Amino acid sequence: MSFDVSTIKADFPILAQQVNGQPLVYLDNGATTQKPNAVIDAITHYYRNDNSNVHRGAHTLSDRATSVFEQARKDVKGFLNANSSDEIIWTKGTTEAVNLVAFSWGLQNLRMGDQVLVSHMEHHANIVPWQMVCEKTGAELVPMPVNDDGDIDLDQLNGLLSENVKFVSVAHVSNALGTVNPVQDIINLAHKVGALVMIDGAQAVAHWDIDVQRLDCDFYAFSGHKLYGPTGIGVLYGKADLLNLMTPFMGGGEMIETVTFEKTTFNTLPYKFEPGTPNIAGAVGLSAAINYLNSLDREAVASHEEDVMDYALAKAKQTKGLRIVGNAKHRAGVLSFVIEGTHPHDVGTLLDQQGVAVRTGNHCAMPIMERMGVPGTVRASFALYNSREDVDALFNAIEKIRMFF
Ligand code: ALA
Repeated sequence: MSFDVSTIKADFPILAQQVNGQPLVYLDNGATTQKPNAVIDAITHYYRNDNSNVHRGAHTLSDRATSVFEQARKDVKGFLNANSSDEIIWTKGTTEAVNLVAFSWGLQNLRMGDQVLVSHMEHHANIVPWQMVCEKTGAELVPMPVNDDGDIDLDQLNGLLSENVKFVSVAHVSNALGTVNPVQDIINLAHKVGALVMIDGAQAVAHWDIDVQRLDCDFYAFSGHKLYGPTGIGVLYGKADLLNLMTPFMGGGEMIETVTFEKTTFNTLPYKFEPGTPNIAGAVGLSAAINYLNSLDREAVASHEEDVMDYALAKAKQTKGLRIVGNAKHRAGVLSFVIEGTHPHDVGTLLDQQGVAVRTGNHCAMPIMERMGVPGTVRASFALYNSREDVDALFNAIEKIRMFF
C-alpha cells in the first residue's frame, strides 16, 4: 500500500480552509490532531441512530449502544495488543489515566522511604499527580536527569534505581522536545529492581504501533484526541493482575457489585474503574480513528512522517537565528525552537497571521523548559497529513516575520 499525503489530507475536512486569508497549515498536532471524515461520521451516525445508555436498558437502542461501546474497547485491545479487553479502562484522557494509577496504586502501595521516578522532561500530567500522592504517603518523587540534548542517560537512570524505587513513570515521546525515550530499556531496568512502570503514550500512539505485551509495561496511557479521535476519551491499559489488586479511584454507578450503607463491593474489570455514564460517543469516535489508521499502511505513514520531520530539521538548521531546543538521538513529531531576539508568543501570533498554527509557551512542561534554559519555545508538531509543503510554508512565514524584530 502506498502513501499519498494529498489523498490523506482530503480525509480531514477542517484542513481545507483559509485562516487570516491564507491556506491553513496546521502544525499543532501535539496539542490535538484533526479528525478524519470517518471519525466525524461515526460520531454523527451514533447520535443519529444508536444513542442510549450502556449496560443498563432493556431495549434495542441500549443494546446497540452497549455493543458499539464494547466493540470500541476490543478495537483498543487490538490496537495496543493487550492480553484482554478487561485491561482497557476508559478515561477522559492520559491525564486521568495517570491520576487513576497514582491515586489508586500509589495511595495503596507507597510508603515513607519509597521512591517514584519520573523523567525531567515529563508533562505536568505525569509529575503533579505523583507529587500529590508522594506528599500524602511520604514517598519521594525523584526526577531522572536529562542531558543537554534532551535525552535520558540510561547509566544515570541505572544509578538511581534501587529497591527503594517502587514506580517509574515516563513519557514514550516528550511533548516539549519530541525525544523518543528508550522505554524498552527503561522498563527492563526498572523491572530488575522490582519497580512497576507506566508509559505516557500521549505523543507516541499516532506515530507507530504499540505492543504492550512485547514492551511488558505495567501501565500504558493515551488520549483519543491525539490519535485523530475525539476529545474527552482516553485509555488506561494495565496488566489485569495489577488492576485487580487496585481499589477504585472514583465511586459511583456501574463500578459496583452491591451497595448497602454498611459496605459496597466492587464490579469486576474493567467496570470497577468506570463509574458513571461513560463517553460512549467518544469511544465510538476513537474506534473509528483506530480503524482509519489500520486501513492505512502504518509503516508507510511512519516513513512519511520521518521524512517530513527530517526535512523540517534540515530547514531549521539552515535558518539564521533559530535555535532548536532538544537534539534527541531519536525524535518524533515535534520541533521545538526559539528565534533570537523574539518571544515565542509573538512568533506564534505572527505565524498565525500567515495561516500557520503552532503552539508556543512552556507546553505544560515547565521543568524541562528550565533545564533547557528557555522560558518557552515555539513548537511545530506534525501529523500524517502534513507535507514538505507545510514545512516550506512554516519556514517561509518565519522568514517574513524577521522584519518585525
Ligand atoms: N499536552 C498537549 C500539548 O503538548 C496539550 O500541547
